[in-house]
Amino acid sequence: MAGFPAGYDDEPVIRFALPSQLDERERRVALTPAAVARLAERGHSIVVEGGAGERAGFADDDYRRAGAEVADLEETLGSDGLVAMVTGPRSEASDRQQRLVAALTPHHHVIGLQDPLWRPADAAKLAATGATFFALELLPRTTRAQSMDVLSSMATVAGYEAALLAATRVPKLLPLMMTAAGTVPAAKVLVLGAGVAGLQAIATARRLGAVVEGYDIRRAATEQIRSLGARAIEAVVTDEPAEDAGGYARRQDDTVSQAQHELLAPHVAEADAVITTAAIPGAASPELISPAMVAAMRAGAVIVDLAAERGGNCALSQPDVEVVSGGVTILAPTDLASRAPQTSSRLFAGNVMAFVEHLTGDDGTLALDRSDDIIAATLVSTKGEVVHPQVLARLEGPEVGEGPLP
Ligand code: NAI
Repeated sequence: MAGFPAGYDDEPVIRFALPSQLDERERRVALTPAAVARLAERGHSIVVEGGAGERAGFADDDYRRAGAEVADLEETLGSDGLVAMVTGPRSEASDRQQRLVAALTPHHHVIGLQDPLWRPADAAKLAATGATFFALELLPRTTRAQSMDVLSSMATVAGYEAALLAATRVPKLLPLMMTAAGTVPAAKVLVLGAGVAGLQAIATARRLGAVVEGYDIRRAATEQIRSLGARAIEAVVTDEPAEDAGGYARRQDDTVSQAQHELLAPHVAEADAVITTAAIPGAASPELISPAMVAAMRAGAVIVDLAAERGGNCALSQPDVEVVSGGVTILAPTDLASRAPQTSSRLFAGNVMAFVEHLTGDDGTLALDRSDDIIAATLVSTKGEVVHPQVLARLEGPEVGEGPLP
């Protein structure tokens, strides 16, 4: 048991704290009023920081009606409880970050996206608060963990939004149109990386009427691309298996990366819009579009790069900056999941609820069974120490983003 009072009839089982997100641009919230109502029904208490759901369209009164108390940041955190956040605190020195971090105690459990493999130094600083941190992006991609998988939820929203963004920025309509003024051919959309976000982008671009091509280094993705009515660019660029035991893409060496450039160049040059979603968990994203490939694209074409936070799939991408090069617009928004905050918050809250259910024992109190694969995979730090083996290896290993996961 981990620092939570047992559930007596007149005492809440777990105290949930919902602080506002720390990044001003973040519109998602980790628990919706509907999720709060479900928690309250189960006897938990919930304290919400005033305004926490405002940017997702949930008013303080919605949370009150669902059974929560609304308070300021410090009162929300209190002296113990389970802190639900979309993106967990960072050690950066903003006033709110500092206040939140200062309020954390060894009796707090923080659940959210923490990115500890990419920011191991932050994870170590936060561990020093003594609070227990769970990083939801480290959930295993197993059937058992599927209901908790925030990465899939957020990638679904981001992929959809990426296709909409591309559709509104290309100087064409997407579908084939036969009109009295003549026939307008369908626009061509190319999606690079066909995981959860890429497949959603393919499906959305298809629904909007584009002719779509998809590519992924994992051979298993080919069938999925085709099943959505897109053409799969199929080619073996490496004899090595492109995926690891967990079904994720491996980082490729320079020879493979060059072969990929050659393979993709003509398809990129033909596309009206290219949406890139290729990522390697915890490592820098592969560069799939070189400056020369951008230069060969037609003026007016658009690239939407979803991998910008880790270097980007296009060499010219800059996170959240609109770059125009030779008439080609390169967009690299890092907030796509946040652009549909009601949907993404609803999905995120559903994932958090499933995770909390997994953490709690039969009596509704929090149990920290470290032999459980889901808990072991997500537990970053507890009792002042980083305990996650991969995060520890990152702390001792090469520069962040420099290589594949140990
Ligand atoms: P991701 O966000 O880590 O990567 C996105 C895509 O980029 C992946 O499909 C990856 O293969 C691709 N990629 C990486 N390097 C590339 C390169 N050099 N060239 C082209 N493509 C490249 O992955 P995501 O979307 O989170 O999941 C990937 C796969 O994991 C899914 O398609 C699925 O098979 C599996 N998965 C399993 C789950 C479960 O069992 N619970 C849940 C979610 C995903």
